Amino acid sequence: MKFVSVLCALALLAIAAVPCGAAEPGGLAWWQKTIVYQIYPKSFADTTGSGTGDLAGITARLDHLKELGVGAVWLTPVYPSPMVDNGYDIADYTAIDPSYGTMADFERLVAEAKKRGIRIVMDLVFNHSSDAHPWFTESKKDRTNTRADWYVWRDAKPDGSAPTNWRSIFGGSAWTWCEERGQYYLHTFAPQQPDLNWENPDLRRALYDAARFWLDKGVGGFRVDAITYIKKPAVFADGVPDGKDGMAGIHAMTANQPGILDFLREFRREVRAGRDIFTVGEANGVGPDDLKDWVGEHGVFDMVFEFSHLDLACSGGVWCQPRDWKLTELKRALMATQRATQNSGWCPVFFENHDQPRSVDHFFPEGADPRRSAKVLAAVLLTLRGTPFIYQGEEIGLPNYPWRSVDELNDIQSHGQYEFALKEGFSPEQALAFVRAFSRDNARTPMLWDEGANAGFTTGRPWLPVHADDAALNAAAQTRDPKSVLNWCRQLSCLRREREELTAGACEELLPESEELFAFARVLENRRAVTVANFSLAAVSLPQEICSGCKLLLSSEDEPREAELAPLEARIYATEM
Ligand code: NOJ
Repeated sequence: MKFVSVLCALALLAIAAVPCGAAEPGGLAWWQKTIVYQIYPKSFADTTGSGTGDLAGITARLDHLKELGVGAVWLTPVYPSPMVDNGYDIADYTAIDPSYGTMADFERLVAEAKKRGIRIVMDLVFNHSSDAHPWFTESKKDRTNTRADWYVWRDAKPDGSAPTNWRSIFGGSAWTWCEERGQYYLHTFAPQQPDLNWENPDLRRALYDAARFWLDKGVGGFRVDAITYIKKPAVFADGVPDGKDGMAGIHAMTANQPGILDFLREFRREVRAGRDIFTVGEANGVGPDDLKDWVGEHGVFDMVFEFSHLDLACSGGVWCQPRDWKLTELKRALMATQRATQNSGWCPVFFENHDQPRSVDHFFPEGADPRRSAKVLAAVLLTLRGTPFIYQGEEIGLPNYPWRSVDELNDIQSHGQYEFALKEGFSPEQALAFVRAFSRDNARTPMLWDEGANAGFTTGRPWLPVHADDAALNAAAQTRDPKSVLNWCRQLSCLRREREELTAGACEELLPESEELFAFARVLENRRAVTVANFSLAAVSLPQEICSGCKLLLSSEDEPREAELAPLEARIYATEM
C-alpha cells in the first residue's frame, strides 16, 4: 500500500481527525457521492445483554461508520413484528419494536447520525404486512368489513384446493386457507406475511402516510422491499410446475407485471417528490433492459438493486443449486447495469446484503485467501459507477459461518429450502451443503467488534453463533493493522472522495475477455482512474495499454510489481490531476 496519496495516508493514521476528500463533485446528488452502509440491527450491537442488537448499539457505533466515509445507513426493519422473518413481517408501520428500543432511541439515533453527516434510511415493506397487523385481523373477519379488500383474497377451487398452484418464495403453497373468512389469502413469502392489495386506493394511502411518518422524523430515504411483486396479474392461472411438488414458483407468475409502474409513479409523487432523500427499490425480476423505466429521468426510483451478478452462482429454482461460472459472466452482468444507466440513471453497486452469502465465499475460486479476496471486491465496489452499498461485516472481510447442522440456522427461508431439497430426493448431507453455502444466516451472524467475549457484540447469549476462529477478524484489531481489509476500505473510500472521476466519471470496461482481470476506467473530462483487480489465484501480467502515463495510487500488495499483478491483487491507477 505504498502509493497512497498524502491526504489518504494521513487519514489512515489519524482517520477521525483528518478531513478527507477535497473534491466536491458538481451535478451529483448527495446520495450519489456518498457510501451507504446496511445494518441488520438484530446482529449489529447489543447494549442490553439480550443477545440481539438494538438502536442504542447502532448509535454507539456511529463513529465506525463515519471513519468509513458512510453518509447513509439503510436499517433493515425495526418496526414491531412477530419476527417470523426477522422484521420483514410488520405489525405496525409507525412504531419501534421493543426489542430494538423506543421511539426516543430512534430519534436519538437520527440526531446523532446527523451530527456525523449520516442519514438514516428506513426499509419499507409494502408488498405484505404481518398477519398480526390490525389491518389483517380486520380484513380476515368477513368479506364486507372496511378493510375486506386490503389483502388478496380468493375463493377455493371447486374441489376446495388453493386458487392456483403457485409456490411461495419460502416454500409451500402461496395460498393459506382462512377458516374465519372462508377464503384463501395470497402470500408471496411466509403464510404469516399476507400480500397487501395495491389495487385498493385506501390501502395505498395508508402506506404513503406511513412513509411520511418517517420523513417527518427526518429520515434520508427508503429502501423499498420486494417491490416487484405489488402488482398481481390480471388473471390468476396455474403455472407450469417446476418441481416434484407440482407447483410453479410465484416469482415467475407475479414479478414485474404490466401496470406496476403506475403504482410506483404514484408512490414517487406521494412520497419522494420534492424531498432531498433517495429511494432504492429491491427489484427482483427487473433486468438491465428494464432499467430505463425504473431509474433515471423517467424512472420511479432513484436507484434499484439489480441482482443478475448475484444470481450467477445459482442454477435457479427453489433453492440455490451451485453452478460454475466465469469471471466474464460476472463482468457482463455488472457492465450491463453500467451500460443501461450510463446516460440516464444510477444504481447501487453491491456484493452483499442480509439475504446473500458472504462475498468472499461467493466470487472467488476455492482456496482463495479471504482477506485478499475482500480487498479485490472492495476495490471494485468503491470505484465502479454507482453508489456503493457496504453490508455490515463486509468491511472487515467476514466469511460465511461453518454451520454444522440445520438446527443451528434461524432463517425461515433456509429451513424451507432444506425441506424442499429433501423432498426433491437429495440426502440430508446434500441438502445441508446447499443451505450452508447459500443460507441467509451467513450474513446475519453478529458483527465482530473486538477481542472481548462474543467479539464485543453482546454480554448475553448471542441469537446466532459468533465467528470465533480468527483473532484478527474484528473491527478493533483491523483498525490497528494498517494492512487490514478495514483500512483498505477506508483508503478506497478516501480516494473516492478525493477524485471526482470516481463518482461523476463515465465507466469504460477494459479487457472484457479476460477471465482473470476485472479492469475498468472512470473518465471525467481529462481525468482518468483505472481499477484493475485480479480475481484469479495466479499472477497475471499487466497489459501495458491499460493506463499509459498513469500513476499507481493504491495497491493491495506491499511490493507491487511493475508489469505483473500478484494473485488476488487490486490496484487503482490515475492520470495526474
Ligand atoms: C426481501 C428481504 O430482503 C428479505 O429479507 C425478506 O425475507 C423478503 N423480502 C420478504 O420481505
